[in-house]
Amino acid sequence: MCGIVGYVGSKQAYPILINGLYRLEYRGYDSAGIAIIDGDLKMYKTKGKVADLENFVSGKDIKGTIGIAHTRWATHGEPNDVNAHPHYSESKQLALIHNGIIENYASLKEELIQRNYTFKSETDTEVLVYLIEDIMEKEGVPLEEAVRIALNQVIGAYAIVVISKNDPDMLIAARKGSPMVVGIGDDDFYIASDATPIAEYTKEVIYLDDEEIVCVRKGEKIILKTIKNKVKTPYIQKLEMNLTALEKGGFEHFMLKEIYEQPTSILDSFRGRLDAKKGLVKLGGISDYEQKMAKAKRIIIIACGTSWHAGLVGEYLFEDLARIPVEVEYASEFRYRNPVLNEDDIIIAISQSGETADTLAAIQLAKSKGATIIGICNVVGSSIPRTTHAGTYTHAGPEIGVASTKAFTAQVTVLTLMALRMAQMKGTIEKSKFHHLLYELESIPSKVEEALKVDEQIKELARIFTFARNFLYLGRGYNFPVALEGALKLKEISYIHAEGYPAAEMKHGPIALIDREMPVVVIATNKGTYDKVVSNIQEVKARNGRIIAIVTKGDTAVKELADYVIEVPETDELFVPLVATIPLQLLSYHIAVMRECNVDQPRNLAKSVTVE
Ligand code: M6R
Repeated sequence: MCGIVGYVGSKQAYPILINGLYRLEYRGYDSAGIAIIDGDLKMYKTKGKVADLENFVSGKDIKGTIGIAHTRWATHGEPNDVNAHPHYSESKQLALIHNGIIENYASLKEELIQRNYTFKSETDTEVLVYLIEDIMEKEGVPLEEAVRIALNQVIGAYAIVVISKNDPDMLIAARKGSPMVVGIGDDDFYIASDATPIAEYTKEVIYLDDEEIVCVRKGEKIILKTIKNKVKTPYIQKLEMNLTALEKGGFEHFMLKEIYEQPTSILDSFRGRLDAKKGLVKLGGISDYEQKMAKAKRIIIIACGTSWHAGLVGEYLFEDLARIPVEVEYASEFRYRNPVLNEDDIIIAISQSGETADTLAAIQLAKSKGATIIGICNVVGSSIPRTTHAGTYTHAGPEIGVASTKAFTAQVTVLTLMALRMAQMKGTIEKSKFHHLLYELESIPSKVEEALKVDEQIKELARIFTFARNFLYLGRGYNFPVALEGALKLKEISYIHAEGYPAAEMKHGPIALIDREMPVVVIATNKGTYDKVVSNIQEVKARNGRIIAIVTKGDTAVKELADYVIEVPETDELFVPLVATIPLQLLSYHIAVMRECNVDQPRNLAKSVTVE
């Protein structure tokens, strides 16, 4: 979850490192720090955000052409100056940054304490840098070899970068279970947790695999090996990342920009994969596996958070269209449940970041039982797509706001394409309906564009409900996952307690919560169980609940009952989540802004959850 960045070359490292930290700040923002070699190995770190670090160093003349930097999401030890990364080795000759968790740090620390090492911080990371130095001294080996030996003693996940005062042209990096990208410049190298800090300097990158160590020196060739000492040939890839995607582009927050990008990001997620005129749905990434998918007796979708909500929409789509039974599992539960799996099972793993630790672990489990794993990910080159048998990228572009928005609609779009393709292959859908749905899907970007026009109206609503203490979100059928997603968005960025519920389940408990103080958001679009939802609205009204209804344009019945009505464009029931989610994203956004919450970096959260 932490962000790490490193540089070695001929340029001044500090501006590269600090800009890199800003780019990576969405990964964690409890503390930030930099280590730079300028004759001496100097370190600057502080609790708080990257801006706090910049304030802290202001006026200092930071020089040096090699350095490492870190933005932290605390795991071991509270967020404070001492626990902030980088960490020195005991002699202060080495500095190390780390993303992940060293699970056996306590026993390693104990051994080192017995040999008279004194620790300054409460972190697991400090143990690792002490261990590396200890190995160098004890075994008389160079730094790169000591790192390799140390990593063989470590249990857990890591992405690390180490520098040494005694070798001021060399960066050593390694990964296991946490992402790491190396950017290759003219005579310099960039290292980061993801490609966002690298994109403006080079398009040539190497994504490290688990248990790989890379050693880079200014002007020299990369040395890549495994922690078992097997030398490997680096596989250099072209980085395709648009720099404007990394900027706010005139919006106040990344989240708002990303909400507004959805007409384009949805289009990008089906571009080249859907041709309504020709009646074509083609997903190149899974073509070798689509026969197996179509024949599957069941599909299991694994994901976390918002991606799990997209998976729920996927369940409805696959069952409705392709008549394939689907189970949707929280990756974190699935992996510890001893699930019944076999070689016939198809697992669809959904993840924006492609790095979520629980999803990765669930994939490993399913793989070990022989299941076929299909990925739906957004971040190109991330760990999940490199672990799965096949997969499809969502192509939503970088999502920086911690609250996921455009990734959700892109995931739903890709799931829709998959379900349609399966239905076509299995013949479970009439030709005319298939064609109608393809045309309808092609029209979704313009309908999302239209749905965004309620922004001003939503702002008004947000003003009314800024200080609500609780919210209930209700929906049925395809709108149930939308209700869950609306509630998650609100709680994560505005810190208002919100629950999503299937509308009909309300009478089995949550109805007891309803009174004048309880805003109830009901997604009551005009298809599916519309009449039943109208009855549910009446039940809320009878108890004085305040109804905010998301309805189809032109609705009359709900308008008469609801206190506030937001219209979304008419579409097929299957595609309603793609349009009905938009006003809910906007509502959470505006409420959070009015409550003066940090929208893009909500407290306690990080964008990719790389710890279990
Ligand atoms: O990167 P992933 O899609 O695997 O992330 C899963 C969740 O951590 C993520 O969706 C999280 O719930 C978001 N903060 C929701 O907005």
